[in-house]
Amino acid sequence: MSLSSEFFYRDNALVCERVDVASLARVYGTPCYVYAKRGITSRYQAYKHAFAGSWSEVCYAVKANSNLTVLRTLVDEGAWFDIVSGGELFRVLAAGGDPAKVVFSGVGKTPDEIRFAIEKGIHRFNCESEAEIKLISGIARAAGREVSIAVRVNPDVDASTHPYISTGLREHKFGIDIALAEAVYARAAMLPGVVSDGVSCHIGSQLLDVEPLLEAAGKMCSLVQRLRGRGLPIEFLDLGGGLGVPYGANDHPAAIPAYIERLRRVVEPLDLTIMLEPGRSIVAEAGILLTTVLLVKENGNKRFVIVDAAMNDLIRPALYQAYHEIVPVLREPVGEHMVADVVGPVCETGDFFARDRDLPSVAPGDVLAICTAGAYGFAQSSNYNSRPRACELLIDASDVHLARRRETYKDLIRGENVTLVHESLR
Ligand code: LLP
Repeated sequence: MSLSSEFFYRDNALVCERVDVASLARVYGTPCYVYAKRGITSRYQAYKHAFAGSWSEVCYAVKANSNLTVLRTLVDEGAWFDIVSGGELFRVLAAGGDPAKVVFSGVGKTPDEIRFAIEKGIHRFNCESEAEIKLISGIARAAGREVSIAVRVNPDVDASTHPYISTGLREHKFGIDIALAEAVYARAAMLPGVVSDGVSCHIGSQLLDVEPLLEAAGKMCSLVQRLRGRGLPIEFLDLGGGLGVPYGANDHPAAIPAYIERLRRVVEPLDLTIMLEPGRSIVAEAGILLTTVLLVKENGNKRFVIVDAAMNDLIRPALYQAYHEIVPVLREPVGEHMVADVVGPVCETGDFFARDRDLPSVAPGDVLAICTAGAYGFAQSSNYNSRPRACELLIDASDVHLARRRETYKDLIRGENVTLVHESLR
């Protein structure tokens, strides 16, 4: 069972930090996300400690989990942030984050988003096309500002992960081909309003093997040397996120310190500020999704455990065939087992959390924990099938913080009109 250090059994009852998880389900209901504060801070600090003594910034990838309480927790630790939209910048600011510690990535930034980010004074943009560099240059110039940029380079390294979260090959929409990068930098150097003082890449997510990450880092270092050789003042190297986490017993990702130690050996000779954008490896294992068994249904030789969470709450199994461990919140010391599909109530065959899974026998009313759900869980949730979104709790030792209340039916229709509203277009 792949429970993490912050979720464990005490007398066969699941505990998060010092809080009994069954009582959380009783008080706050299900589906409910539970995050362990120490799980988040300890992983962020693992990055920082591993980097100690070198110039580095750990920019948490907000997209993994953008809850304000989670962001605030990281603000308090001194984290930087990697954002991909104006909305994420708004969230970082609402959480008390410093715009000067924000890096704006993403393949399609709108003029409004760029203007908002420049106005707030973010640290830099990671640019994914020449057209975007020109757009940022124009907006910065009009605002009388000069902004730092890095070109997101596609180093053509195979991340060997799920095709939907692999981004570093030439055929992907991301970044600028490394073979074209020098020419792009040369042209960017002529533009007003932008200073090209960084390079960046991100080759994919959930990498269980660090070799591709190190290979990409090596290629990026060579590029930095070539650019410096042309007189460009490259000071920042952003290597993106991507370190994987153990979703199942067969996943053996590198530990954060081991990865950083090897990375340092590749990048240290260049005397750069190294930036990383980890998302999943900071929050995934620090979160679980609690769900209650509604009923157990037998259909011929197939058994279904129908639970009250669904693909709208956690879409990873449906979208990426992702594996998530599922454990009972109260376990029997020597109980019976059964094989079943764990499915939600949404009207889609793809609405499942596990297929043909060997589980301890469960009955209606039992509460289950879907593990390693802190990253890309709530952040990718929706109201599909008009299901109010789950509540989120952050556990700090024995304190429970309601990080987001459960949505109500009223929340579902907020902003909608029951009658036709005519607005003239001018
Ligand atoms: N930086 C950039 C530019 C990214 O695109 C991403 C993730 C990250 C950083 C953070 O990567 P991480 O450290 O979390 O691997 N929804 C998918 C994952 C999508 C990742 C998208 N980009 C999932 O649930 O597996």
